[in-house]
Amino acid sequence: MGKVATMDFHVTSECSQECPYCWGPQDFETAVDTATALSILQKMRDSEVRRVVFTGGDPLQRADIAELIRAARDMGLEVALSTTGDKLTEEFLAATAGAIDLISLPLDGSTEEINAQTKKPGHFAAIMGALALLGRYPKVDVKLCTPVTRKNIDDVVNIAALIDRWARGVGNCVFYNVFQTFPRSMTPCRWDEWVVSDAEFERMAANIRAHGFRIQINFLTHAMLDRIYVMVFPDGSLVVPSGPDYRNLGRFLDISDLDAALERSDFAAFRHFAHSLGWGKRPTGPGLVPTLRSHLS
Ligand SMILES: C[S@@+](CC[C@H](N)C(=O)[O-])C[C@H]1O[C@@H](n2cnc3c(N)ncnc32)[C@H](O)[C@@H]1O
Ligand code: SF4
Repeated sequence: MGKVATMDFHVTSECSQECPYCWGPQDFETAVDTATALSILQKMRDSEVRRVVFTGGDPLQRADIAELIRAARDMGLEVALSTTGDKLTEEFLAATAGAIDLISLPLDGSTEEINAQTKKPGHFAAIMGALALLGRYPKVDVKLCTPVTRKNIDDVVNIAALIDRWARGVGNCVFYNVFQTFPRSMTPCRWDEWVVSDAEFERMAANIRAHGFRIQINFLTHAMLDRIYVMVFPDGSLVVPSGPDYRNLGRFLDISDLDAALERSDFAAFRHFAHSLGWGKRPTGPGLVPTLRSHLS
């Protein structure tokens, strides 16, 4: 296996939301066309990448996303979809769920009011609708994600409780990623209004751990989140974010040796690999003892 277990393919920067902290690509007027996107997927496969995460922006803003998902699966890649959630439909799932291993959805609050501090009105209801739909596809793993900010830090325990309740009624494997909102964005942001300190994040995490929720909760600090992502941006360039910077390594399709290119950057290969194992942990029964998927061994 190559050094890269997982690549994030930001297939568009278009999105229905305008989260003030968004670290995704912004305002790309065009994105790679279908043929180029397929070549990028094949190159990931040839580079021994195991998993592609279709992300954005919102990948469901692309008309060809179902085709890309099915092609990635046919090439033998594991497929994750990180979507804003408000465009997830029964029709889309019926056509693609068999090719998707995991769907990731953002949730910034346990109520419409709290969620709407960073998302547009109605997003909370859209996520509740998406969860109801996903419960009908138990083979698809589901991950909820919350970037923790000064606005929602006291509510994260309630979000965990909401997800835990939902998880008890469905057959899906359910994960919850709690991010310490990372101060990186392509548009200006007043980070002091949003970012929580390491100590505040750790206190919140300790409180949530003490509740003994059954779902697997991953707490991701700034130290853990930095330099672990390998991304292809909407224009087809390879990007490894580092601190506040987006390090652009050039056009992905022009890179002959991915591992060598990454060695010249400050990509944290070991932490990347450790982080990538998180998705491979699946609950095994009432005790929810995490185990690694056999294909990781
Ligand atoms: C860039 S979004 C793209 C997919 C989709 N639009 C969404 O929001 O889930 C991917 C993930 O990054 C998270 N995220 C965005 N900005 C962040 C930041 N500054 N720090 C930590 N996580 C962030 C989002 O909550 C989401 O879970
Ligand atoms: S929903 Fe996702 S891509 Fe859209 S603005 Fe928010 S974090 Fe960024």
